[in-house]
Amino acid sequence: MGEKAVVLMTHELPEEWQGDTLNEYQVVLAEGGQKGITARLRDRLADASGIFCLLDDPIPAEILHNAPKLKVVSNLAAGVDNIDLDACTELGIPVGHTPGVLTDGTADLTLALLLSVARQLPKAAEDARRGRWTSWNPTGWLGADLKDSTAGIIGLGKIGYAVAQRLSGFGPRLIFTSKHPKPEQARILNAQQVSLDELLRTSDFICLHTALTAETRGMIDKSAFQIMKNSSILINAARGPVVNTDDLVKALETGQIRAAGLDVTDPEPLPPDHPLFRLENCLITPHIGSATHQTRRSMAEIALRNLVAGLTGSPLPHCANPEVYQST
Ligand code: DGY
Repeated sequence: MGEKAVVLMTHELPEEWQGDTLNEYQVVLAEGGQKGITARLRDRLADASGIFCLLDDPIPAEILHNAPKLKVVSNLAAGVDNIDLDACTELGIPVGHTPGVLTDGTADLTLALLLSVARQLPKAAEDARRGRWTSWNPTGWLGADLKDSTAGIIGLGKIGYAVAQRLSGFGPRLIFTSKHPKPEQARILNAQQVSLDELLRTSDFICLHTALTAETRGMIDKSAFQIMKNSSILINAARGPVVNTDDLVKALETGQIRAAGLDVTDPEPLPPDHPLFRLENCLITPHIGSATHQTRRSMAEIALRNLVAGLTGSPLPHCANPEVYQST
């Protein structure tokens, strides 16, 4: 029998998720608690046939160039902005990802954040716990209505669409932006496709659902906050760097916008002494959009299937750079 192919894993999966999927391989695990290609993994790069990584493990071109046997990179995420995708494609390495299964979970979390921020749930709950609920107060803990508001969705991909479907039950006017015209989706959702400028100017709620690309990085910056309504609420469950963090802090501090709900931040994780944590009008969760038992398990199953397909030379079931298969 030949030597087992080497697979580098940046994070250990629960045994019941992994099963015997990787028994045929020599798995090298990163040192616990460290991110990315740690020293132990780097030592084995030259032999590695596969890399299994998380969305916050950077996989730059330099790593790929030092892994001459690499056949596949499998990311436990739908987004692949942590991986140098162009370098992978140039080197003919397919990149696996996990789209689809996290759509509903992430859309649910987006709504949870939006409603929590709109109705000031964290503050109201904290006040109740701290004994500041002394009577029913007609003017206490007032929030914003979704009904008859304008809710704007930036990016009508799978998750943006699922958010729009959920939002429509609450009765806002729905508007959205998208790279391509989406008349059919607009008709089904009873929504209107508009320019980014119009969405920013007119929305009471703005939900970000774009991938992180060179084009979307820093898209919500000082100039965007300047045209947003002072009463608007920004929700980001996409990728932190779509929003310029310093500009967001200023916008929240100065009342340029009313509040924000962030499941993703830049940097990530956000250090506990970060100014955003001191702002009462900002609710931050630790990138938990897909964090349900079923969703995370489904993501792991897909990521493992992608990994094994790449290792055995089969097309990946979910490939983020399908061009690799055209060039050969
Ligand atoms: C992804 O998979 O890209 C999500 O951000 C995880 O929640």
